[in-house]
Amino acid sequence: MSHTRHFLTLNDLTRDELLALLKRASELKKLQRNGVAHDSLKGKVMAMIFAKSSTRTRVSFEAGMTQLGGSAMFLSSADTQMGRGEPISDTAKVISSMVDIVMIRTFAHTDVELFAEHSSVPVINALTDDYHPCQLLADMQTWMEHRGDVQGKTVCWLGDGNNMCQSYINAAKILGFHLKIACPEGFEPSTELLDQAQGFASIENDPKRASEGAHLLVTDVWASMGQEEEARMREQALSAYQLNQDLLDLADPEALYLHCLPAHRGEEITADLMDNPDTVIWDEAENRLHAQKALIEFLLR
Ligand code: CP
Ligand code: NVA
Repeated sequence: MSHTRHFLTLNDLTRDELLALLKRASELKKLQRNGVAHDSLKGKVMAMIFAKSSTRTRVSFEAGMTQLGGSAMFLSSADTQMGRGEPISDTAKVISSMVDIVMIRTFAHTDVELFAEHSSVPVINALTDDYHPCQLLADMQTWMEHRGDVQGKTVCWLGDGNNMCQSYINAAKILGFHLKIACPEGFEPSTELLDQAQGFASIENDPKRASEGAHLLVTDVWASMGQEEEARMREQALSAYQLNQDLLDLADPEALYLHCLPAHRGEEITADLMDNPDTVIWDEAENRLHAQKALIEFLLR
C-alpha cells in the first residue's frame, strides 16, 4: 500500500507537484468554461464520507467526479455503520476495496490518518479540526490567477488560529510567502507547526500591524464546526480581528482578500467586503471544483 498517495495535508505534495497541480486546475477550468468534455476518470468512483456539514466541498467533489466521467457517493458517517462504532480501520479496508478514491470530512485529524493507513486507495482530507488542505488549493489557485507568483509575498491571517490558519502555515512554507498571523492570546495555531515553518510564519497580535503592506488578507469563522457552544465567548475574544475596509486600507494597494465560506457578515468579515462586486471570494469558492479535479487526477494518475 506504500505506493498509494494520500492528501491529508499540503505537506503530502512537493512544491513542484503543488505548482503543477494548480496550473492543471486553471487548465481544467478553461476546458470546463469552453464546454470541452474531459472524461479522464471514466468509470472511477469516489466515496465521500461526511461527519460534518458541507455545501462547497460536497458539491465540488461530486460535480468534479461527474464532469471527469466518474461518479461520487455521499456517505454520512451518522447513517453508516461508522456511526454505530464500526472501527475506522475495518471501514477503510472495506470501502477502499470497492471504490477508487475516498474523501473524508471529520473531526479528529488522526481519524483521517488512521483511515489512510488502512486504505488501499488514495484518501483526501476534506477538512478536519486541524487542517483544510483542499481549501488551500482553491485559495492559492485564486491568488495566483489574479496576481501571479506568490513567492516572497506577505499574507495576513486574521482571527482564529484554526484548521484554515494551520493550512496557510503549510502553504507559506511550501510556496515561500510570509504569513503574519493576527490572533489574540489563546487562539494561536499549533506551535509545532509554526516551528516547522520558521521564517515563513509568525504571530502578530496586533491586526493593524499584521495587515500593513500585506498582499493578501484572509479570515475564517470565529467558531468552527464542533465549537458551536463557544460561539459567544469566541465572538468577544476575536471581535478586534474582523476583516474590514480599515485593515484593507493598511494593506498593499493591490491586496486581495479571501474567506473560505460560509461567512458571517458583521462578525469575522464586514458585509461591504463580502458584497463588494470586485471581491474574488466567489472565484475562490468556484476554484474548489477545478483544484480538486486536478487533485483527483493527480492522485489517480
Ligand atoms: N469552504 C468549505 O469547505 O465549505 P463547505 O463547508 O460548505 O464545504
Ligand atoms: N474553520 C471552519 C471552516 C469551514 C469550511 C470550520 O472548520 O468549520
